[in-house]
Amino acid sequence: MAPPLAEARGLVCAGGEASRLEELTRVTNKHLLPVGRWPMIYYPLELMQRCGIREVLIVTGQQHAGDFIDLLGDGRIAERSGGAALFDLELTYRVQTRSGGIAEVIGMAEAFADSRKLVVCLGDNVFEFAETEAVRRFVESGSGGQIFVKEVPDPERFGVVAYGEHGEVVDIVEKAGTVDRRYERPPSNDAVVGLYCYSADVFDIVRRLTPSSRGELEITDINRAYAERSAITVSRVSGWWRDAGTHEALARISALVNRTGANKVRVDAAEPGDRT
Ligand code: DAU
Repeated sequence: MAPPLAEARGLVCAGGEASRLEELTRVTNKHLLPVGRWPMIYYPLELMQRCGIREVLIVTGQQHAGDFIDLLGDGRIAERSGGAALFDLELTYRVQTRSGGIAEVIGMAEAFADSRKLVVCLGDNVFEFAETEAVRRFVESGSGGQIFVKEVPDPERFGVVAYGEHGEVVDIVEKAGTVDRRYERPPSNDAVVGLYCYSADVFDIVRRLTPSSRGELEITDINRAYAERSAITVSRVSGWWRDAGTHEALARISALVNRTGANKVRVDAAEPGDRT
């Protein structure tokens, strides 16, 4: 396990409604559904652990909140077979009573973060690599915001980065044409994935946000605020990345995890393609 990054706190966003999963989420929460051999929420928690972040806040919706505590307890979890320790985390829980958006969840982490840097992972995102180097670099010496991108064939489903002539970040756009109607089409295929690092001024940004056309406080609006002051760093995710929001995705991610593993730690420390 990585040495603890005591300066940072982790946040896993596991609220929201998950209406796209229909029957599967009638009596349980999306983040408790199986992906490979684990409940989905284990993956963002493992990512935090691999990055050396021990103190993690989980924000869940009100329904099923107790199930998260049943499953995860205080964050020290051994394998059911009685074997090795799976997690050695310090977990804190908060309840989001309505789907007010990911940026609302970040705002709920202010007291928990206690002026430290915050590493945020969406509870339904699964990564082949834990991006430990970029996260550690940001926590140790970064400022502003750090986001990660992955080229996708269907950018209209995600937040995407818009680049200028020289490859600089000029805008960040949430679901072009539907949520962000300034654009008819996504300005690039670089989807912003569900892993973000922020300095403590993120909470000042959240306080100034207003709801988007879908009625949520958008994490993309936080990232745009950093981009507008040239304070955002973009790193490219090198392995696969998936958002487990649909039935098809759930099945495919399980197959991927079984084949390649998830949250692996890269042996080469270099991070090609970072840009601000
Ligand atoms: O998966 C990456 C995408 O995630 C990004 O490219 C988008 O910029 C970002 O807005 C987000 O898009 P989605 O529309 O797919 O987010 P979704 O509503 O599926 O929520 C993602 C996770 O955040 C999910 O695990 C539940 C959690 N969440 C969501 C909302 C709206 C909360 O904890 N609270 C919320 O209010």
